[in-house]
Parts: sequence; C-alpha cells; structure tokens
Amino acid sequence: MKIEDFDLTEWLKFLPEEGKLLFGEDRMLLLRQDTMGRLWFLLNQHLGQELTNTIMTQFGFRCGYGDFKVLNQILHIDDNEMKIATGPMMHNWEGIVHVQMEDISMDLIDNKFFCKGKWFNSYEAENYLKNFKKFSEHPVCHSLTGYASGWCSAFSDLETVAIETQCIGMGHDHCCWEIRDIASWEGKADRWVAYLKNSTENISKKLENAVSELNHLNENLEEKIQRRTAKIKSQQQKLLASAKLGAIGEMAGGIAHEIKNPLAVISGHSSVIRKKLQKSKLTDEVLLEHLDKIDSTVEMTNKIVNGLKNLSRDTSMDGFKEFEVDQLLEDVLGITKAKFKTGRLSLEVLKPDEKIKVFGERVQLGQVLLNLLNNAYDEVSAIENSWVRMEISKTKDSITFKVIDSGSGLNEEAAEKIFDPFFTTKEVGKGTGLGLSISKSIIESHNGRLYIDFDSKNTCFVVEFSLNPESSKS
Ligand SMILES: Nc1ncnc2c1ncn2[C@@H]1O[C@H](COP(=O)(O)OP(=O)(O)OP(=O)(O)O)[C@@H](O)[C@H]1O
Ligand SMILES: [Mg+2]
Repeated sequence: MKIEDFDLTEWLKFLPEEGKLLFGEDRMLLLRQDTMGRLWFLLNQHLGQELTNTIMTQFGFRCGYGDFKVLNQILHIDDNEMKIATGPMMHNWEGIVHVQMEDISMDLIDNKFFCKGKWFNSYEAENYLKNFKKFSEHPVCHSLTGYASGWCSAFSDLETVAIETQCIGMGHDHCCWEIRDIASWEGKADRWVAYLKNSTENISKKLENAVSELNHLNENLEEKIQRRTAKIKSQQQKLLASAKLGAIGEMAGGIAHEIKNPLAVISGHSSVIRKKLQKSKLTDEVLLEHLDKIDSTVEMTNKIVNGLKNLSRDTSMDGFKEFEVDQLLEDVLGITKAKFKTGRLSLEVLKPDEKIKVFGERVQLGQVLLNLLNNAYDEVSAIENSWVRMEISKTKDSITFKVIDSGSGLNEEAAEKIFDPFFTTKEVGKGTGLGLSISKSIIESHNGRLYIDFDSKNTCFVVEFSLNPESSKS
C-alpha cells in the first residue's frame, strides 16, 4: 500500500449527536483558522513574541507527538519510511499545510535522524501575514515545526528538532524545513531548541518578567496621569480665574457707563448751583435741595463701586463667615441695578422684612446671584415687556433665592446641557459657558442645591442652602 492510498476519513468518526469528532479513540476538533490567528495575536500581544513562539512550538509538538501515537496504533505499519510519511499525510489531511518530503535518512541505532522538505499553504504563515501585514525577519511557523519535531521524536524515540530554513512569513514562495536529531544540529537550531525546551518554570519566569515590566509601565502611567491631572487642574483654575475676570470686565463696561450718568447728574446740579449763585438767585432751600440730590447720587455711585470691589476680590483666603442677606444683596444689586436700568429691564426684589443671617462665602454666593441675574438679563432684555424678579424666602433652617425671568421656562432636555461647563448660546467673547457650572459647584460646596423649577410658568432658577453653619460648611 502506498501512502497516497491511505484514506484518513476511514478513521475519522463524526458523531454530531454526541458533539464529538474522533480519530481512533482520540477526540479531535475542527477549528476556524481565523480563531487560531486571533489566539496567536492575543498571546503575542499579552505575552510577547518569544513566549508566544514557545507556546505555539510546544502546542505543535504535542499535536505531532499525539497524532503519531494514534496513527501508529491504528495503522500498524512496519516500513519506517512509510511510517514517517504518515506525518506529512496527517498534516495534509488536517488542513494545516501541504507537505512535500524531499530527503530522508536515518540510523536509529546510531541515534541519527535527518529529513527535509517543503511546506505549501502554511495556515500559520497565512495567519501571521494577516495579523501583521508585513514580512517577518524570522520564520513564523512555530506550531508546524513543533508538530514535525513531535512527530519525528515519537517515531524515532530521539530528541529531534525541526526548523524552517525558508518561510512564507518572511516573503518566500513556500516554506522549507529540516529535521535532525538534536546533536546533529551542532547548535545551529538553538532558537528552535529553546522554544521546545523552555520549561514551565522558564515560561513563568519570562511571564513574571513581562508582568513586572507591565507593572513598571503601569506605575509610570499612574505617575503620568497624576502629572497630567495636576496640569489640567491648574489650567482649570486659570480658566476659572479668567472666566471671573471676563465677567468682571463685562460688569465693568456696564458700570463705567452707569457711573457716567450720576457724574453727569452731579455736574448738572453743581452747574445749576453756580449759575443761581452768579445771578444771586440761590436760596438756602434750593441749595439744600440740590445738595440732597448730589448726596443721593454719590451714595448710589458708591454702591456700584463697592459692589464691584466686593465681588471681584480674591476670595481664596475668605472661608465661611456669617453675614446678612442684605449685605449680599447690596453687593449684587449695586452692580446689576445699573445694568437693568440702562437696559430698561424691570428688576424686582421680593424679600422678607426680617433680617436674615446666612453662613457661607459672601463673595462666592454674590457671584452666583450675579450670574443668575446676568443670565436672565441676557435672555429677556431684548424682548418687550419682559421682567426679572428675585424672590427670597426663608424657612426655619434654610434660605431660598429664586431668580425668575419672563422667559417661558426651560425643559429638562435643555436643562441637562446648560449646567455643563462651556455650554453657552452666547456669542464668542460674551459668555464662557462656565457661569452655571461654577455656580452649581459653589452652591454644592455650601451643601445646597442650584436647580431649575420646572413647575414654574416662567424660567426659574432656584438656589437653596441651609442657614445652619454646621450643615452648610463643606
Ligand atoms: N434664564 C435663562 N433662560 C434661558 N436660558 C438660560 C438662562 N440662563 C442660562 N441659560 C442658558 O444656559 C447657558 C449657560 O449659562 P452659563 O451662565 O453657564 O454661561 P453663559 O451665561 O453662557 O456664560 P458666562 O456665564 O460664562 O458669561 C446660557 O448660554 C444660556 O443658553
Ligand atoms: Mg452666565
């Protein structure tokens, strides 16, 4: 019987009802080629090339060794050349590679073994090229050389080692292989010997090294992340500072305009006084009337300037303090009233008569109210008959500021976005989109809440926090 006459299907038993495929008594598997490629890729990615080559070589060795043992049991072939030729036959049938034997010589008494040939269509080289999309510097068919080594070792009872001298993975047309007993290699196959002989201990040592290298990388990564986070934090702080400056700049523009008005009023009164004095028509009564007007105008201007001074102060050292709501309102309204007056937008403030003491960061809380009032102004000032109202109310333990404008309210979808940092619908240079997100974090640092009242008919932002120092201190 010639080797070509063997029909492996005779020994293959497909047992789908048991979910099994048997070769003799041994269970076989039909696997997809690309899953082997994926497995190889994952091994390579996680363990590195050397360990992957080792694993593939030893995996191949066991396949070859086992296949020989089974075939030998089934076929009972005496002729050695025929026996050895069943190895390539197995490889061909298994769809792993097409094997062509070229030369074979052995002296098993003298422990000598030699065999060489070609491989066509190696599944392993195909997978390699698919994964890497470039040629390798070294041969890549490690499960195949492992198989050949295993097969020939099982057949010869010698330690045989197969190598590739040419490989499709390196860009050659086909692969060329040679198998010899280990001594005959005279050190020329050390690479393949190492893959075959790497013990579990060696592998775990290499693995440990790979893991410790990974850990080291990880530590560096953490350090890098920490450095990056610190950088981002400092940039964020700069951004917040510049946002604050931007808001102050905007306010200052409005205020400069507003201060000009009272100055004009004062200069008007003084010129009337001068003219009346020149014509000797100035009575004490008239003089007092003009001086009263000058005084009240100066007072109003003072409020604007004080508000600006208070709200633009560096607050980093401030901390939580007790103060009156009226002081807070003075800071905020001193600035905004002027703006609302110029824009002819009505601003009403409804508050309880009693004096309310709150505990918190005065400047920061002022910035929150200022932003809410400015936002309301920006939304409705261009619309006729619009208005803005601030309602302050108090319960036993908490205080609520509602900033309501004549807008028709915000839905939940819009509300979700507007608290995001940098979300703005204002033109470039006008809004940073940080107002609400900063305000929210300020109120949360007072253990309070900043939210939109969706039940309100008009747009209504609510700031709520505790009056109790212990619970508002964060
Ligand atoms: N009262 C409101 N009515 C309708 N939309 C509003 C109102 N308040 C805020 N918004 C929307 O929320 C967006 C974000 O507001 P936020 O205060 O965070 O930033 P901004 O006002 O755009 O810029 P900045 O406050 O930095 O000057 C606004 O651009 C606007 O689209
Ligand atoms: Mg704003």
